[in-house]
Amino acid sequence: MSIELTFLGHSAFLITSGDHRVAIDPFLTDNPTASMKAEDLEVSAIVLTHGHPDHMGDAESIAKKRLATVYAPFEVCSYLGNQLDEANLEPANPGGRVDAPFGFVAFTQAVHSASHDGRYMGVASGIVLNIGGKTIYHAGDTALFSDMKLIGELYKPDVAILPVGDRFTMGPEHAAIAAEWVGAPIAVPCHFGTWPLLRSDISAFTPKGVEVRKLTPGQSFTL
Ligand code: NI
Ligand code: MN
Repeated sequence: MSIELTFLGHSAFLITSGDHRVAIDPFLTDNPTASMKAEDLEVSAIVLTHGHPDHMGDAESIAKKRLATVYAPFEVCSYLGNQLDEANLEPANPGGRVDAPFGFVAFTQAVHSASHDGRYMGVASGIVLNIGGKTIYHAGDTALFSDMKLIGELYKPDVAILPVGDRFTMGPEHAAIAAEWVGAPIAVPCHFGTWPLLRSDISAFTPKGVEVRKLTPGQSFTL
């Protein structure tokens, strides 16, 4: 079965396969690069890498409106539990895998912080999304770390989505190494150029042996 991967701007992606529609880090309101409005995003599931506002974004309102299931770090689910039905929350932590109607969501290590208005939001994670027989690794926000090789070995992702904007995450030079270490045949850069604090020139993102697909917000490809 084929899947379609659409970049929504910043770190937000929509992955669809048949009737399954999964959003990763749906930050659309206040996102200057968002390709669509939060109220127009139809999803059955939302996957969150960590509780920073540029990732958790519109998760709460979208989940409420669409009755979507939210897969997120434990503390992020605790936070959302004040607003959402617990039956629609799937808490997890790095190393864990949660079976889903479309496949599974696994959580991985990331080297990054996570808080929201001073509230501890658990550890930041990367996620591995298995859907339609394909596997996507979204690294979330993270520094380069050598266990990205292990993530590649464990999950053999078809696509690696990597932050490249520097300052809060890897820059393009480190992200190129990350893409080589993960070893997915396709790498998609994200988390760059959204604001002046993030680099917008990512011409140094040139991993060897990996096809880079730089998407503009709203652009998609089929796998
Ligand atoms: Ni962050
Ligand atoms: Mn971020």
